This record gives sequence, C-alpha cells and structure tokens, in this order.
Amino acid sequence: MIFFFTLLILHAAQPTTTAAATITTNAATITSLHGYGDTQVLALKKLNWAQQQTVTANCFIQRSRSEKNAIILELHNRDYCYGPRSDWNKKVLKNLLSDQIRVDSLQSRIKILISKGLNQELSNAQIPLVSGAKLQTLNYIVTVGLGGRNITLIVDTGSDLTWVQCEPCGACYNQQEPLFNPSKSPSYKPVLCKSTTCENLASATGTSGVCGFNSSTCNYYVSYGDGSYTRGDLANDNLVLGTTLVQDFVFGCGRVNDGLFGGVSGLMGLGRSALSVVSQTYGVFEGVFSYCLPSVTNGGSGSLILGDDTSLYKNFTPFSYTNLISNTMMPTFYFLNLTGISIGGVSLQDSGFGKNEMLIDSGTVITRLKPAVYNALKTEFLKQFSGYPKAPAFSILDTCFNLSAYEQVEIPTLKMHFGMDDATLTVDVTGMLYFAKADASQVCLAIAGLSDEEEIGIIGNYQQKNTRVVYNTKASTLGFAKETCSLD
Ligand SMILES: *[C@@H]1O[C@H](CO)[C@@H](O)[C@H](O)[C@H]1NC(C)=O
Ligand SMILES: *[C@@H]1O[C@H](CO)[C@@H](O)[C@H](O)[C@H]1NC(C)=O
Ligand SMILES: *[C@@H]1O[C@H](CO)[C@@H](O)[C@H](O)[C@H]1NC(C)=O
Ligand SMILES: *[C@@H]1O[C@H](CO)[C@@H](O)[C@H](O)[C@H]1NC(C)=O
Repeated sequence: MIFFFTLLILHAAQPTTTAAATITTNAATITSLHGYGDTQVLALKKLNWAQQQTVTANCFIQRSRSEKNAIILELHNRDYCYGPRSDWNKKVLKNLLSDQIRVDSLQSRIKILISKGLNQELSNAQIPLVSGAKLQTLNYIVTVGLGGRNITLIVDTGSDLTWVQCEPCGACYNQQEPLFNPSKSPSYKPVLCKSTTCENLASATGTSGVCGFNSSTCNYYVSYGDGSYTRGDLANDNLVLGTTLVQDFVFGCGRVNDGLFGGVSGLMGLGRSALSVVSQTYGVFEGVFSYCLPSVTNGGSGSLILGDDTSLYKNFTPFSYTNLISNTMMPTFYFLNLTGISIGGVSLQDSGFGKNEMLIDSGTVITRLKPAVYNALKTEFLKQFSGYPKAPAFSILDTCFNLSAYEQVEIPTLKMHFGMDDATLTVDVTGMLYFAKADASQVCLAIAGLSDEEEIGIIGNYQQKNTRVVYNTKASTLGFAKETCSLD
C-alpha cells in the first residue's frame, strides 16, 4: 500500500527555544534541541494515498458567487481535479522540470525586453515566451462564463491575453470540456485588424496582430519557449465572472494550439497590460484582484476575488502592503522591491537587497533567488535545521533530507521583506518543504537558486500558499496576509 504525508500546521511561530523534534524508531527516541526562536511545526501524518485519490477525481466546474461589489471565484490546484496519479515521484519530477522550463523562458523573455526595449518590434522567433511555457505548471484553475457557456481556465498573472480553444479548430490539444463554438454565441464578434485593440496585442503578447485572410479579422499569435503556442482570431464576447457581465471582452479564439495545457480549455491572463482581465474589468473592479492559493495536499479550495472589498478576506494577520514597481519595458509583470530575507529570525546579508526587482508570479511553482542570496539562505537553513539525515538533491532542489522517521519537524520560518514600508511575506509552513518521495525519505527545501546573478528572482506559488495576496493596480500596491484558504 502506498502512503503519503499530509501537511498539518499545528502552531505557528512558536516562541520557544526548547521545542524538540522527536524521532520515533524501533530503536530509540532521540530528542534534539534547537536554539532558534522563529519556527513553525510541520506534522508529517500518514494518510492512505489511494483513498485520497478517489475523493479528488474531478472538480470541474469551480463554483463562484457575488458578494457586495466583488466576485469570488473558486480556485483549485489542477492536480486536485484530475484522476489518480500513478507515480508520485515521477509526477513531482515532471512538475519541477516544467517549472524550470517556465523560469528559463521567463528569464529569456525578460532579457530580450531589457536589451531591445518595447519600441522595437520583436519577431516571433525572438519571443520565446509570453506566459508559462508548459502550462502544466500553471496549476490553478477557475470557471467563468463566455459566450453563454461555462469554461474552465488556468489563472496566470504572468501574461495578459485570455484565450480559449475554438471551433473550427485547425489543431487543438485534448480538453475536458467541449470546444468553444463562436457560431453558437450570438454575442461573438471578431475584432477588426485595423483597431486599437488589435494594436494592443504587441504589448500584451510581444507579437503584433496581423490581418487575417479575411482582412477584417485580427490574428494573434502567442508563442512559448518549449514549442507550445496558441494562434487564432482576436474576438469580443460576453464574459461572465460570477454574476458580473463584461460585455465585448477581448480574448483569443485559438484555432491552432499546442502544448501541455492539461485538459483545460484555455488561459485567463491577469497581467498588468491593456488586454488583461484586470485592465478590461477596470470599470467594475477598479484594477484590484486577490487570491488565496490552497495546497494540493489538503485538497482545499482557494479563491480568486475580483474587486476591492477587504471585508471578504479571511486573513488572520494584518495586511502588509508594498509598492509595485513599474517597469515600462515589461508592462505585463508584477515586480516588487526585495529588501531582505530572514530565516528563523536571522537576517541574511546581501548587497543586492533594495536594488533588485523580484517578480511575483502565480504560474511559477518554486521561488528562485539569486545565487548569492540562495547560498546564504541555504547555509543558514542548514545551520538551524540541523541533525536531520541528508538525502540526495532532487532536480533543481539541492537541500534535501530523509525525514521518514519523524512524526513532526520544526522548520525555521522564512520571511521576505519588501519596499521601504517593509511589507512581509511570511511563508506558510506548507510552502517550506517539497516532498520528492511520498514516504518523506527525500524532502527538500522548496527554494532554488538561479543560474546567474543577472537573472531576476521570482516568488513562486508554492511559497504563496495559504496567503491572501492582493494586487491593486490602481494604487500600484501589493499586499500579503496569512489566510487559511477556503471558498466559503
Ligand atoms: C454554469 O455553471 C453554473 C454553476 O454550476 C450553473 O449554475 C450555470 O447554469 C452554468 N451555466 C451554463 C450556461 O451552463
Ligand atoms: C469575413 O468577413 C465578413 C464580413 O466582414 C463576414 O461576413 C464573414 O463571415 C467573414 N468570414 C470569416 C471566415 O470569418
Ligand atoms: C530514510 O530513513 C529511514 C529511517 O531512518 C531508513 O530506514 C531509510 O532507509 C532511509 N531511506 C533512504 C532512501 O535513505
Ligand atoms: C527599494 O527599497 C530600497 C530600500 O528601502 C530603496 O532605497 C530603493 O529606492 C527602492 N527601490 C525602488 C525601485 O523603489
């Protein structure tokens, strides 16, 4: 029988210096003392893996509701919504490989944008990526209404254009829901190629719109670094978010699409530029959205809230806000000013703090730090999380342990500090360790180093779990607070 470990938070930030990690083996009970204060306890509780799978077969459609002036969309991790997983180890390895492809593609896109500037036209070949390469890792999904039907989309803060696979389809990957059929929607209208909307494609996707065969339509093309892409006509139709109707919403009707999009009908772009859902719904939601990303292991639902109604958040710590940094060369992305990192209450030292932009992304899984910062973090983590048997590195993760003999461990708390107002992201204990093996014999610090100092740090979704993250594009701020994610 296969078992896996579920993660339970027992208590957070326990201010004690005598708490112990207890090892239970046949031979002995060993207790090791730690001298550090700022830790969180992670309980490794055995659960029947097969049983867990039957509960989570399929969760299309995600629910939604309206409250006050906001819309609440249920958010699930895609992994939670699909059938049984055959091999945990293979699956998580594949996830990390895909994650690395996304990060490489993001980095090369950023490099191209920095070197060329936006005014210069970029050829298709030079744009390796607009959003997450293998969309397999962009793993949070929501259901919205489009052209009178429900449709399930991947949520991506790293891109702008929303698109769905469309009939008639030249080449479509397999999806669970029927294809979107424009001829069945009376409100569907193609976007004309000689229009501002069509011109906005250049900043939203890196590739200008072109006139279609039928010179009245605007053709879009979004290309991904790994060979994945979507191509089709830009169109308008009615978008329904919860109960809010957005008329003439601009989206891509994808006629030729390929890539590992995991059976989902398309993608919802929550980036910062003109064609994103955030920009197109500005009149209703004033450029504010937030999410709480649930962890896969606890199977919970999270929520994507559109609109600025703080009373809908269920945070149990106060919000701390920081300014979003605008980078005109990269209008899509949300950048923050990383000013410091502490682990177990110990502040890391790095000359780059306060000088470097860091990207916050819903589609990257594992947080990436510049090599020097990562090495400092790793050294301090190993000093504090000592006495545990080491395990081999796993893919991009190089700080691993065999924790199969432990019932619970005490993990130093990771805090990331941003901006002059010192906003703090306190990483939830479920976002600290990555389980390469279901039996906990290979469990790794869930942070990776970038390959060179010139690359841009990324805050991945693994470290954003159980946190309400509020994006306010109107005030140009971003806020964090602890929340236990749930829809209700
Ligand atoms: C979309 O899904 C909601 C919630 O399940 C349901 O109430 C509604 O009838 C569906 N709409 C369509 C057009 O199928
Ligand atoms: C071409 O455009 C005309 C009107 O501009 C429209 O009636 C027709 O359906 C379009 N054809 C296609 C294939 O989109
Ligand atoms: C992990 O630790 C357990 C208990 O100490 C041991 O039995 C097992 O062989 C170790 N596994 C690996 C892969 O090292
Ligand atoms: C980032 O924060 C540092 C330290 O507070 C400050 O000196 C710097 O000007 C900030 N950078 C930006 C781009 O806001």
